Amino acid sequence: MNYFVSNNWGKNQYQNLNDAHTRSTSTVRFIFCCIALGLCSTLLILSLWNPNTYIPTIRTYVLHLDRRQPLLHTISDKFLSFGLDTSLLRTMNELPIKQEKFINLGRHLSPAYVRVGGTSADCLIFDQNQIVQSSSEKILSPVDGQDISNFTITGADLLAVYNFAVKSKLRMIFDLNVLLRNPDGSWNDTNAQEIITFAKNQAMELDWQLGNEPNSFKHVFNVTISANELAKNYDRLRQLLDEAGYVDSILVGPEVNHVGEQNHIGEEYAKIFLRSQSSTVNYVTWHQYYLNGREAIVKDFVNPLIFNWLPAQIKSLGEFIAASGKNVSMWLSETSTAYGGGAPELSDRFVAGFLWLDKLGYSASAGLNVVTRQSLFGGNYAMVSPNLTPNPDWWVSIFYKQFVSEKVLKLITSNNFGYVRLYAHCTPKEARVARVPAVTIYGMNIDKIAVHINIPELFVQSGEMMKIFFYSLTADNLQSSEIKLNGQVLKLQSNGDLPPFQSIILDPTDPVILPPYSMVFMIVHGIDIPVCE
Ligand SMILES: *[C@@H]1O[C@H](CO)[C@@H](O)[C@H](O)[C@H]1NC(C)=O
Ligand SMILES: *[C@@H]1O[C@H](CO)[C@@H](O)[C@H](O)[C@H]1NC(C)=O
Ligand SMILES: *[C@@H]1O[C@H](CO)[C@@H](O)[C@H](O)[C@H]1NC(C)=O
Ligand SMILES: *[C@@H]1O[C@H](CO)[C@@H](O)[C@H](O)[C@H]1NC(C)=O
Repeated sequence: MNYFVSNNWGKNQYQNLNDAHTRSTSTVRFIFCCIALGLCSTLLILSLWNPNTYIPTIRTYVLHLDRRQPLLHTISDKFLSFGLDTSLLRTMNELPIKQEKFINLGRHLSPAYVRVGGTSADCLIFDQNQIVQSSSEKILSPVDGQDISNFTITGADLLAVYNFAVKSKLRMIFDLNVLLRNPDGSWNDTNAQEIITFAKNQAMELDWQLGNEPNSFKHVFNVTISANELAKNYDRLRQLLDEAGYVDSILVGPEVNHVGEQNHIGEEYAKIFLRSQSSTVNYVTWHQYYLNGREAIVKDFVNPLIFNWLPAQIKSLGEFIAASGKNVSMWLSETSTAYGGGAPELSDRFVAGFLWLDKLGYSASAGLNVVTRQSLFGGNYAMVSPNLTPNPDWWVSIFYKQFVSEKVLKLITSNNFGYVRLYAHCTPKEARVARVPAVTIYGMNIDKIAVHINIPELFVQSGEMMKIFFYSLTADNLQSSEIKLNGQVLKLQSNGDLPPFQSIILDPTDPVILPPYSMVFMIVHGIDIPVCE
């Protein structure tokens, strides 16, 4: 029994939308409307039954989409990117980068950056033909207990990681060690030069960064590198890259954390860094986590106050960037729900999708150019499990890649900072039906009750043949490892291909209901918004 229609439309089937609609979705629409009516009448009956009890009524959330609007922002085609933590290179043989299954999972998310960085980047020493094994003795970080002992990687190791990026059609970013210092305190760039030369000789195409969370070096490594000094090191690295033939590679930094806190440590560091470097960095990069992985509980993952931390951080850093006098846009170059490797049984479960999707939506609406998810693999926040099964956030990311383009639109709402949070972009060309422009409205309802969505502008031009392809992502429980699309568990096909995504096709006049605890992607086909053409 299958009421759903696949979105695998041929290029000229748009005119068949009406037929398809009557053929296959009238039943679904009927059920959909019944559920909506049922909910309302149940609530009505309940409220008549005992008017003194608190009854949550189904709310209507009104939003507006100005059809004549200009583009709000154009973000990178690699906006949704992800990391592979440098610490994974400590145990190269445990990293599945040579496995076809893993390569396939990466490839489904391309185009994207794969950032090889993290605390261990400042412990990494390149030794092209390593003979001596690095010491296996661990030194633990006083901050989060991770291994901060120095270690070496070989040319073959670097090549293996790079080959994963190439096969997955990803663009690698490599984070160089800034803690290799000369006796006078200046950066010893010998090892960086060896990596750059090796990479160039192997014809690697990649981008670069230097150091990780330098404003926190004191706490982690008992070393201080000032923002002025780091700026000099970045200028030097830019020079080395240009000399080596990496003129076209971008350089991003300074990779600060602790942004948005009362003392503004991260922002202050970034401001001085930006002021001091000679327009060397292409993007200002920073790291963001909402929660401490050891303390986070499931409620935090559906609490709007937690979600609203990110907008405050972006605003604060934006002010410090402006004060630096440099006009550079931001990247979230390392980010996830919870630090310390993520929260067990939360950061890799269905419930983590809300913070992830909201981060993507809000960051795009704020004009951030790239958001790099920590991490594709490894830790409790992995998008791919140790046995190479995609976690819910991998699926959320797949939907984002399929249905959300780099053209960001403005949705007007009275409040997008509560339980319902929605964003709008033009739909990518590949997801259009018969090349007819479309708009993707996506987001979530993190409330325990359903909500009714009303977009008055969808009714305006009745002559249009508008259809809403509705995709909701839900789970049986918030901590599920599985995620359902319109009620059916998402699974890759046995050959590793994506399954066909089956939508519910709605008329603009149908009620649009966001289920409790759901993420949604609504593709409005046939809407006339000139900037999306
Ligand atoms: C790691 O290498 C750096 C740079 O050579 C050095 O300053 C530091 O002491 C080393 N760390 C450890 C734990 O040996
Ligand atoms: C920089 O490090 C290299 C080892 O990578 C070492 O041979 C060289 O002496 C160092 N340079 C200075 C000025 O300390
Ligand atoms: C930090 O480094 C200073 C020297 O720079 C040293 O005196 C101090 O003992 C170190 N602290 C720790 C906790 O290792
Ligand atoms: C910053 O640069 C962008 C183009 O890169 C430009 O559109 C914008 O007006 C600039 N902003 C400021 C404050 O100079």
